[in-house]
Amino acid sequence: MIVTDAVRDYLERVRPRPDPVLAEMEAHGARERIPIVMPGTGELLRVLALARGARHALEVGTAIGVSTLYIARGLADGGTIVSFEIDPERHQAARTYLDRAGVLDRADLRLQDARDGLASLRGTFDFAFVDGVKSEYEEYFDVLLPLLGTGAVLVVDNVLMGGSVAEGDTSERSTTARAFNERLLGHPDLTATVTPVGDGVLVAVKR
Ligand SMILES: C[S@@+](CC[C@H](N)C(=O)[O-])C[C@H]1O[C@@H](n2cnc3c(N)ncnc32)[C@H](O)[C@@H]1O
Repeated sequence: MIVTDAVRDYLERVRPRPDPVLAEMEAHGARERIPIVMPGTGELLRVLALARGARHALEVGTAIGVSTLYIARGLADGGTIVSFEIDPERHQAARTYLDRAGVLDRADLRLQDARDGLASLRGTFDFAFVDGVKSEYEEYFDVLLPLLGTGAVLVVDNVLMGGSVAEGDTSERSTTARAFNERLLGHPDLTATVTPVGDGVLVAVKR
């Protein structure tokens, strides 16, 4: 956690109550130690998608569909999200949950490495969420950026990695994460900021 226990407990108390399907997905994630977004990050995704009026969204790392569900619920009418996952069991679980949650018609779930999938996509997207393998973030970003239109919102999870990124940790993971954050924060095509939501969320708008 990168906030105090008191802040974490307060945020948990005031968060909107999850509906039964979302609660089941969260329990599934906890039981099988699948790293799904924290509730605050999920709510932030939904609010940002709503604020953007997103219609064409992308996601790297579906897992069992928790973040996909939050984003799908923030899409404008007729909006869709293309989401990539390489684990067949998680991909199938996401399909089942999103169907039960009533948003499968908005979700184009692809069992494919996001690096290949993104490289083969055509068109312009107005919202993107990156939450795959941290060591691949640079690669996702390089294929993702050309797909984003002006004003598109880009969200990246786990950019503070439990605080280690800020605490001077010299491991390769933290060093790579710091370089990635600095690259996006200084990127000429982005206006970006890092927020201490969840595990650290970078939010950017494409210029
Ligand atoms: C942190 S989890 C995603 C959690 C999900 N976004 C959520 O919050 O509900 C990362 C997922 O990315 C998947 N993954 C790893 N490498 C990938 C790749 N190259 N392309 C697509 N998915 C990938 C993993 O199998 C894992 O399920």
